[in-house]
Amino acid sequence: MGSSSSRRCRISSGVCVAVALILAFLACCVACASGAVPALYVLGDSQADVGNNNYLPESLLRANFPHNGVDYPGGKATGRFSNGYNFVDLVASSLGLDSPPPYLSIRNSSNSTIYLKGINFASGGAGVSDLTNKGQCISFDEQIERDYSKVHAALVKRLGKRNASTHLGESLFVVAIGGNDIIMQVLFSPVTELLSTQKQFISTLADTLKRQLQSLYDLGMRRLFIVGAAPLGCCPLLREQSPTKACQAEANSMAATYNDAAAELLRGMAKRHRDMSYAFFDTSTALLQAIHDPKARGYTEVKAACCGLGVNNAMFLCAPDSKYCSNRTTHMFWDLVHPTEMTSKKLMNVAFNGSAPLVSPINVKELTQC
Ligand SMILES: *[C@@H]1O[C@H](CO)[C@@H](O)[C@H](O)[C@H]1NC(C)=O
Ligand SMILES: *[C@@H]1O[C@H](CO)[C@@H](O)[C@H](O)[C@H]1NC(C)=O
Ligand SMILES: *[C@@H]1O[C@H](CO)[C@@H](O)[C@H](O)[C@H]1NC(C)=O
Ligand SMILES: *[C@@H]1O[C@H](CO)[C@@H](O)[C@H](O)[C@H]1NC(C)=O
Ligand SMILES: *[C@@H]1O[C@H](CO)[C@@H](O)[C@H](O)[C@H]1NC(C)=O
Repeated sequence: MGSSSSRRCRISSGVCVAVALILAFLACCVACASGAVPALYVLGDSQADVGNNNYLPESLLRANFPHNGVDYPGGKATGRFSNGYNFVDLVASSLGLDSPPPYLSIRNSSNSTIYLKGINFASGGAGVSDLTNKGQCISFDEQIERDYSKVHAALVKRLGKRNASTHLGESLFVVAIGGNDIIMQVLFSPVTELLSTQKQFISTLADTLKRQLQSLYDLGMRRLFIVGAAPLGCCPLLREQSPTKACQAEANSMAATYNDAAAELLRGMAKRHRDMSYAFFDTSTALLQAIHDPKARGYTEVKAACCGLGVNNAMFLCAPDSKYCSNRTTHMFWDLVHPTEMTSKKLMNVAFNGSAPLVSPINVKELTQC
């Protein structure tokens, strides 16, 4: 190899300079691999909640009863809004980590060692706006400013500022937020108003999200996996509003607009902060592909929920007296808004190994190796 490359060098030293530059570039970028991800810090809504809302006695937005968890180990209803694992569990296991515990189950721990293995702050019902499901959940702002910032302080106290930065910088932050803001807006404003106010509504959401992500950056977040809004108009809850059971176009358009705004603010953020990297998953585009061609993606049912009451099981969250489908692997939706474990699996395969436009600018595998 030495002789053939030196022969090439004699032929053209220009090529060698180019090769050297490429090698230097690769060396630089491989060098940014700072080891395995030590922990996950998770914030967001019910897609990511692993049981925080179990600790909110006033909340109706809970899932710690059957038939939730029917496919979870032991058939246990943990508080996950799923028949089995949710997407955070799948991200954790793909990285060889345990899915972190709900913050409210460990917040009284006097031993901060437990925080080093990651924590899940997510709360069903939460939105970018504090007003979304107010009183029923831990808002995204509370998750950041009240809960995570306490954990951050405990880690700094324990590890020192520098080592805490290293630990958090290598950790993966997982964020899923925004869907509930859109659902509430669609359910509670007249359609005529929706069309005229959509742009303003999304731009306000994006401004708030930008401030929130900046707070997380200020508190040590450097690797971010963020999932965009689903095509909410196609979830059983909103299909049910249409006489023809068609996808609700305004909700889908708002989800797509929100995702575009989120992608744009992330591009800006990464430009301002060269030490931050992220993977943005466009849930809306990925799920619409499956909704348009269910058979090709292994689904037999993409309209009705598996578990619930009423037409298409779309009338109520999954509860003990609901009926549920016998084969959860071929349904897209578990309940009126949440995906089945199988859907989360299919989506996370793409988030890990896929490419733009579904996951960008890099996928989760690349994000966690660099
Ligand atoms: C933690 O402490 C709070 C307030 O002291 C209490 O209400 C809560 O039940 C405790 N949580 C756990 C999981 O022990
Ligand atoms: C904290 O917990 C860790 C692991 O569980 C244990 O090794 C350590 O001794 C504990 N520290 C204190 C001060 O209790
Ligand atoms: C920080 O990490 C270094 C290297 O692992 C270690 O030697 C040092 O003791 C740590 N500092 C604190 C305050 O834990
Ligand atoms: C569910 O459906 C899939 C696809 O048709 C099939 O491969 C699988 O065996 C079924 N599972 C059960 C438990 O019936
Ligand atoms: C990504 O692809 C690799 C290799 O093909 C596979 O082993 C792994 O399970 C995939 N990851 C996910 C989360 O699908």
